[in-house]
Amino acid sequence: MTLLEGKNLTMIFGGLAALDSVDITIEEGEILSLIGPNGAGKTTLFNLITGVYSPTRGSICFKQKEIINMKPYDITKMGIARTFQNIRLFGEMSVLDNVIIGQHCRTRTGVVGAILRTSAVKKEEKKVHDRAMEILNFVGLDNEAAEKAKNLPYGKQRRLELARALATEPDLMLLDEPAAGMNPQETNELIELIGKLNDMGKTVLLIEHDMKLVMGISQRIMVLDYGKKIADGPPEKIRNDEKVIKAYLGDRTRKEVQAC
Ligand SMILES: Nc1ncnc2c1ncn2[C@@H]1O[C@H](COP(=O)(O)OP(=O)(O)OP(=O)(O)O)[C@@H](O)[C@H]1O
Ligand SMILES: [Mg+2]
Repeated sequence: MTLLEGKNLTMIFGGLAALDSVDITIEEGEILSLIGPNGAGKTTLFNLITGVYSPTRGSICFKQKEIINMKPYDITKMGIARTFQNIRLFGEMSVLDNVIIGQHCRTRTGVVGAILRTSAVKKEEKKVHDRAMEILNFVGLDNEAAEKAKNLPYGKQRRLELARALATEPDLMLLDEPAAGMNPQETNELIELIGKLNDMGKTVLLIEHDMKLVMGISQRIMVLDYGKKIADGPPEKIRNDEKVIKAYLGDRTRKEVQAC
């Protein structure tokens, strides 16, 4: 079943088309990767899907509902979560609190309840705490729960971003270069984690430059170049697509990609 369908998406910034008439479909349960050179429009597409920007033209339906012009918070509530290309954590807060914040859109405590600390509030706090610990355990950060986020090594900060996104209980997760800056071991752990997320039923849209990761994990790959979609298909098709090799990969990396 189609979970998200974007049609004719165009985003113009001061005369430059960051995206030009792009169609995208995401099927429930798949891992779809979005690749393309720097400036191709990948993050812009994430920003349209998550409501950061409204497109100049086009439509996006998620679970059969038009989400253009909806606020980011309401889109998160509908079941779309993201991580950012540049890590955006609350560095001074604990690892645990960073995940608890992610759950905010699913909790019900009102201001009055929070001040009076009613038993319902205390019960909800415990539930939120336990769920956050469960998520930290899932991403392998439960031992660091009390650490300040800024004190975590880089690879773990990236995993914490993922945990925070997961805390919103999404159906669709958008991951913007989650392996950027990771060493090979951290990248392998991340691949395993994304696979586990997918096994849990999460649909994943992944932006990634690491070709080994992309070719290994994706059921389908979509390629953007200068804001236009130039290819869409399974990894074996993309790997041999002349247009993709020429526009994006270049002859230098042809062998590297075909070896993946
Ligand atoms: N808010 C903005 N205002 C003006 N131009 C923008 C804005 N956001 C993106 N752009 C431009 O749109 C184009 C696409 O940018 P985008 O960040 O989507 O690329 P990308 O594919 O994610 O690249 P990278 O691989 O470097 O992250 C670029 O030319 C960029 O400079
Ligand atoms: Mg980007």
